Amino acid sequence: MQYTNIQIDIENQVALIRINREDKMNALNIATLKEIKAAVEEANGNEAVHAIVLSGMGSKAFAAGADISEFVAFNEEQGEDMSASGHAVMNTLEQSAKPVIAAVNGFALGGGCELAMAAHIRIASENARFGQPEINLGLVPGYGGTQRLCEIVGKGRAMNLLLTGDAIKAEDALQMGLVTQVCSSEELIPAAMKLAEKLMGKSPYALAKVIELVNEHYAPARQAYNSEITEFGACFQKPDFVEGTDAFLNKRKANFHGTQATN
Ligand code: COA
Repeated sequence: MQYTNIQIDIENQVALIRINREDKMNALNIATLKEIKAAVEEANGNEAVHAIVLSGMGSKAFAAGADISEFVAFNEEQGEDMSASGHAVMNTLEQSAKPVIAAVNGFALGGGCELAMAAHIRIASENARFGQPEINLGLVPGYGGTQRLCEIVGKGRAMNLLLTGDAIKAEDALQMGLVTQVCSSEELIPAAMKLAEKLMGKSPYALAKVIELVNEHYAPARQAYNSEITEFGACFQKPDFVEGTDAFLNKRKANFHGTQATN
């Protein structure tokens, strides 16, 4: 595959995949997500690769979410398709037989946070910020955020982040277990590479089986992904979504009129 939205470097048997849309805060448009999926599949098929590190170019953003300008005019069906394709990308990461480490180098919001959560291990730079701000767009998370966030940080903390849309600092993410290590921006990629190299000393077979078995623990809960896809699509036909996305794109505060869940 020809990659234009990501950069791949293979060093010391580690595939370093970096989202390369720095001027758009590495926002995840559909093409970028497709490339990430293909790159992870390619790394899995490459015998010279033993681990994958996923990060964003620059020091500002890992990924500031799905690309709002791309989906603003989508209808319900397109919204559902977008969510289903995003889920497929996240599942590819989560089910990768080779360990995936997310090195979160700045904003990991919405789809960016969901992308990090689909990785097996997350580390972050001190300036990283995590959150699920979809609520501010009149949306529900659509790439597994309602499920994986609960699994990683527990229901209470997940509810707080999902309902407020607030972003948290790297230190708070560390404290709640969303990441397992925080370091300076300069140290982030070296630290992720060091961690990947540590895993290289382990049995690839056993690593793959641990990933498979841990995923199996959560398999029954995966049913809810289909509901998330449906509900994400349903938001697209609500006035609150129109208002939320228009407000973001026009750099103003949203004024929701209150689409009730019963409407
Ligand atoms: N989709 C599309 N474009 C995005 C984006 C996204 N998710 N996040 C940032 N961008 C774009 C901005 O529109 C802006 O483009 P412009 O220069 O053409 O105007 C550029 O990236 C820089 O972002 P800006 O908002 O000016 O930077 P900031 O430092 O003031 O704020 C963020 C950074 C990440 C806090 C802010 O961009 C943001 O809130 N992004 C959206 C987060 C979100 O809601 N994600 C969930 C989407 S489902």
